[in-house]
Amino acid sequence: MLIAHISDFHVFADRPETSLVRLDAAHVARKIVADLAAFIPAIDAVMFTGDLTDGGSADDYALLRDILAPLKMPVLVVPGNHDRRAGLRAAFATDFPFGAGPTLDYEKWVRGIRVLALDTVKEGHVEGALTDPQLDWLAARLGRPVPELTLILMHHPAFPSCVDSLDAMALRAGRKEFGALIAGYDGPLRILAGHIHRPFQALWQGKFCATGGSPVFQHELQLVPGADEPGATKEPYRYFLHKIDGPGAVTIHSRYVEL
Ligand SMILES: [Fe+2]
Repeated sequence: MLIAHISDFHVFADRPETSLVRLDAAHVARKIVADLAAFIPAIDAVMFTGDLTDGGSADDYALLRDILAPLKMPVLVVPGNHDRRAGLRAAFATDFPFGAGPTLDYEKWVRGIRVLALDTVKEGHVEGALTDPQLDWLAARLGRPVPELTLILMHHPAFPSCVDSLDAMALRAGRKEFGALIAGYDGPLRILAGHIHRPFQALWQGKFCATGGSPVFQHELQLVPGADEPGATKEPYRYFLHKIDGPGAVTIHSRYVEL
């Protein structure tokens, strides 16, 4: 079982909303998709942790669907703060069992892995949030431990990057309650996120967590407490491949793509 983790493509059809985003974001995304599609052995599923688009228009999502079309394996997505719920819901309505509520959360089994996709978007804000109904939804599912791997997808990390300026705009409301649910889960569980535009891994609440970086810009490493938001770095982009041979046996590689 081979799972790819990608994030923060910020694809746009017209012009970018975000100043740092590469103007050739769509071209870059197609290169990564081509690499994912051609990888041998075949990748079984792709986890895409938000900021799929940079503006969330219908045209942005139409372009994104076209870019993702070469991927024949399941591609599971969550929204990021640059997405728009209405556009994403319309673009992926037949792919995921979105609930009737305002947020785009869903549970989906993929090749023997339970994926819990969480919508951490707080509309109009860069930072993320989980509402009480979402925490109740998650508690109901984590209250039923399964022996198979549970994979949580969320855009805003709940776990710290230790880059203070970026953690200040990560998951805020609901973070403590979310942490208690994760700490109390008695089964194999991993969390994949995005948003930080810099890949890192963490052990948080006793669980493995990771962010996926971004191909359109990445932040330089800034670990000085209280420092300003870091600038962009030219460190090369990599996506991540998780080789899963059972819930307790996972090997993770990064894969360089020349962009
Ligand atoms: Fe992003």
